[in-house]
Amino acid sequence: MVFIVPQAIEDYAAKHTTPLPPLLEELTRDTHANMKAPQMLSGQLEGTLLQFLIRLSGAKRVLELGMFTGFSAQMMAAALPAGGVVVTCDIDPAAHAFAKRYFDRSPHGAKIQPKVGPALETMRTLTGPFDLIFIDADKTNYTNYYERALELLAPGGLIVVDNVLWSGRVLDPKDESDRAIAAFNKHVAGDPRVRQVILTVRDGVMLISRV
Ligand SMILES: C[S@@+](CC[C@H](N)C(=O)[O-])C[C@H]1O[C@@H](n2cnc3c(N)ncnc32)[C@H](O)[C@@H]1O
Repeated sequence: MVFIVPQAIEDYAAKHTTPLPPLLEELTRDTHANMKAPQMLSGQLEGTLLQFLIRLSGAKRVLELGMFTGFSAQMMAAALPAGGVVVTCDIDPAAHAFAKRYFDRSPHGAKIQPKVGPALETMRTLTGPFDLIFIDADKTNYTNYYERALELLAPGGLIVVDNVLWSGRVLDPKDESDRAIAAFNKHVAGDPRVRQVILTVRDGVMLISRV
């Protein structure tokens, strides 16, 4: 993955952002050493941004699509008040096994409810409202996730979508995922139900709320 801002700026931003707790430093090292495609882990900058969004919005119920090794789920859980919940979905049983080992060691692990299976199927079984919905699973389903997320979103809730700049490939889409993200961005931009902004954080993060 090529970040949108130069690597030296990315590193500078990370150095001047609140550091990760030791457990998430360990999870990050372990993910890079032992999991396929470790670059999927969102990381310190985006995780800390998610924490700000949760605290500023007063979110209590969070839904995540795309848990991977549980990094962003743990970051979000840590920002929630007591009684807050992160429901998080992933299709990969290996990711669930990995993430569980770290949820069990986290002081915020009890707030996290992992669901195994295709995220769209899981979303069909869920009842809203969710205050914040973080979309970070397979890119080809982004528009489907968005449409169901709007049904599950609380009034005044926030949808956060990762990888919307896709290493810049949205400018010249070539494969299925490139085209899906470009089509998703166009779909949201033309949707009169919402307002949205794309932040050039990491690989592009879109914030969406109902008008
Ligand atoms: C980018 S990673 C998520 C990273 C995570 N949010 C983080 O910040 O560490 C995407 C995850 O989506 C999962 N995934 C892919 N297709 C899926 C689907 N149809 N349903 C649910 N999860 C899916 C993958 O197994 C992968 O773990």
